[in-house]
Amino acid sequence: MGIIEKVSGPIVVANNMLGAKMYDVVKVGENKLIGEIIQLNQDKAIIQVYEDTSGLKPGEPTISTELPLSVNLGPGLIANIYDGIQRPLEAIKKVSGDFISKGIIINSLDERKKWEFIANKNLKLNSQVNEGNILGYVQETEIIRHYILVPQNISGKLIELKSGKFNITQTIAVLKNNNKKIEIQMMQIRPVRKPAKYNGKLSINEQLITGQRVIDTFFPIAKGGTAAVPGAFGTGKTVIQHQLAKWSDAQIIIYIGCGERGNEMTEVLTEFPELKDPKSGKPLMDRTILIANTSNMPVAAREASIYTGITIAEYFRDMGYDVAVMADSTSRWAEAMREVSSRLEEMPGEEGYPAYLAKRLAEFYERGGKVNALSNKQGSVTIIGAVSPPGGDISEPVSQGTLRLTKTFWALDATLASSRHFPSINWLNSYSLYQDQLKQWYVENIGEKFIENRTRAMQILQTESELRNIVQLVGADALPDHERIVLDIGKIIRENFLFQNAYDEIDTFSSMKKQFLMLDVILYFNDLAQKTAKQISADKIIGMKIKQNIAKMREIKDSEFNNYVENLKKDIKISFDDLIKNI
Ligand SMILES: Nc1ncnc2c1ncn2[C@@H]1O[C@H](COP(=O)(O)OP(=O)(O)OP(=O)(O)O)[C@@H](O)[C@H]1O
Ligand SMILES: [Mg+2]
Repeated sequence: MGIIEKVSGPIVVANNMLGAKMYDVVKVGENKLIGEIIQLNQDKAIIQVYEDTSGLKPGEPTISTELPLSVNLGPGLIANIYDGIQRPLEAIKKVSGDFISKGIIINSLDERKKWEFIANKNLKLNSQVNEGNILGYVQETEIIRHYILVPQNISGKLIELKSGKFNITQTIAVLKNNNKKIEIQMMQIRPVRKPAKYNGKLSINEQLITGQRVIDTFFPIAKGGTAAVPGAFGTGKTVIQHQLAKWSDAQIIIYIGCGERGNEMTEVLTEFPELKDPKSGKPLMDRTILIANTSNMPVAAREASIYTGITIAEYFRDMGYDVAVMADSTSRWAEAMREVSSRLEEMPGEEGYPAYLAKRLAEFYERGGKVNALSNKQGSVTIIGAVSPPGGDISEPVSQGTLRLTKTFWALDATLASSRHFPSINWLNSYSLYQDQLKQWYVENIGEKFIENRTRAMQILQTESELRNIVQLVGADALPDHERIVLDIGKIIRENFLFQNAYDEIDTFSSMKKQFLMLDVILYFNDLAQKTAKQISADKIIGMKIKQNIAKMREIKDSEFNNYVENLKKDIKISFDDLIKNI
C-alpha cells in the first residue's frame, strides 16, 4: 500500500509503491478513485487518475490492483453507453444522479442476466483448442451473434463444453493444460493499451458504404481503412461522424465522444436509441456501443476512452465483424495527453504536445485494418477520427500527425460551411488513397461506368473552379459558350449532388445505385448541353426548366428512383429537342 505525497489535477504522486508495475491500475485515496501508474521511479509512482481528484489529500492511501487498465468483454456490450473507463453511464446515473460519485464501482456488463449460450458443435471433447477458437455463441440482438472465443493466451484440451442458459461469469467450458484445469466464462478481460493478437493483416478491398455521396463517390473509405476529418469550429465534423454511425454498413459501430461538449453527446444519446436501420428495420442501437467522455468529465478518462473504444472494436473484429470506430474529437484526446504531460513537467514538443504524440496517434490508427482473426474469420476495424485544429489551420501537430497515418482525408471547409454547403468536404483538396484498391469492387458491385463517371465529374469540378477564378476577374459573359456550360454543370454537381442534407429524411442516405444514377443523369445532361451549345446560345441551355427535376433527385426515394431517372432522361432529351426545334 502506498501513500499520496502530492496531488496535481489528474496526477497523483504516491510513495511506498515498491513492487508496483508500470500501467498497473491503482485505487487512489479513501474514495478508491481509479488510476493508472504512468511513471515509476523506485518506490515513487506517478498515477493518472480517471476521476475527479478534488478533495483528495496527501497522506491518503493508494493500493495497486496489479492489473493493467482493461475492459470487460462479453454479451451485454451492445447498445451500452459507457464513460471513458467503461463504466455504464445509465446504471451509474441510477445510483448516483447526474454527477458520477467518486470511486463508484458498477460492473461494465450485467452479471446477473442469463443468456442462451449455444456451444460450437464442431468442437470435439478432448480435442485441442487454442486462443481465439470459437466455443459457441449468444444471439445478443436480432442482428448480432456474439461469438464466445477462447481468451487470448489460453489453450488446452477441451474437457467440457455445454449449451444452456448462463450468466457471463458462469463457466461454459473447461480446458486442461498440463494437468491444470482452466475454466472459461463468457466474460473475458482484455488490457486496453495492447493491440489484440491476430493471424496477419489482409489487403483491403471492400468499400464502407456510408450513404454520403461526396464520400462514397469521390473520397471513399474502405472497410478496415482509416480516415481523418479535420475541420474548424462548426464545419460539420460531428454531423459527419453521426451520419457514418447511423448509416454506414459496418456491422458494429463504436462511437467515441471524446472531450466534446455535453450537448453534442446528448444528441447522440437521445437520438440514436430512436433510430432504425433503413435496411433491416431494426433499432440502430442493436449494433452500436457509445463511449461518452464529454468536456466536463475528468481529462485523464478522456485519454483512456480512445483505448477503451478500440479494444472493444478489436473484440468484435475477432468474431469476424466489420467494425467502424468514430472518434470525435482526437484533438481533445491529444489535449488530454498534453495536460497530463505538462503536469508531469515533461519536455514539451511542438505546441506543448508531448514528444510522443505522433507515436500515440500511430499506435491508434495502426489498430485499424482488415485481419485474419485467431478464430480464422476475417474482420475489420475502420477508424474515422475527427480533428479540431484551432482556427482550422491544419499545419498544427495533431492534424499533421493524423494526416501522415490516415489514407482518406475529408477536408472540411469553413467557407463552404458558412455558405451552408454541407457536408462541407472540399472536393478540390480532399483525397482517398483507396480508390485504386476498390476498383475491382466498383466494377463488380456497380459497374465500370461508375469510375468513368466519377473521373469525368471531378474534371468538370476542377475546370469549373479554374473558370470561377477567371469569372471573378472578367465576368461570365467573357467566356465562350462551352465554358459557360461547364460552369453551369459544375454548379449542378455541387448543389444537386455534393450537397446533401443530413436532416432530410430521404436525402440523409443515398444508396450506391442512387449515387451512380444521379451522377449519370447529370452527365447525360452535360453531354446534350455541350452538343446543343454548338448550335444555340448557352443562355437558353442555362435557363432550361428541366434542371429543376435534376435538383429534385435528392428527394426521391430509393424505391422510386429507377423510374424517376428513366422518365427524367426522356424529359431531358425532349427538352433539348424542343430547344433546337425552336431555333
Ligand atoms: N450534412 C449536413 N446537413 C445539414 N446541416 C449540416 C450538415 N453538416 C453540418 N450541418 C450544420 O452545421 C452545424 C455544425 O455542425 P457540427 O456540429 O457537426 O460541427 P463541428 O465541426 O462538429 O463543430 P465543433 O467544432 O463545434 O465540434 C450543424 O449544427 C448543422 O446545422
Ligand atoms: Mg463537433
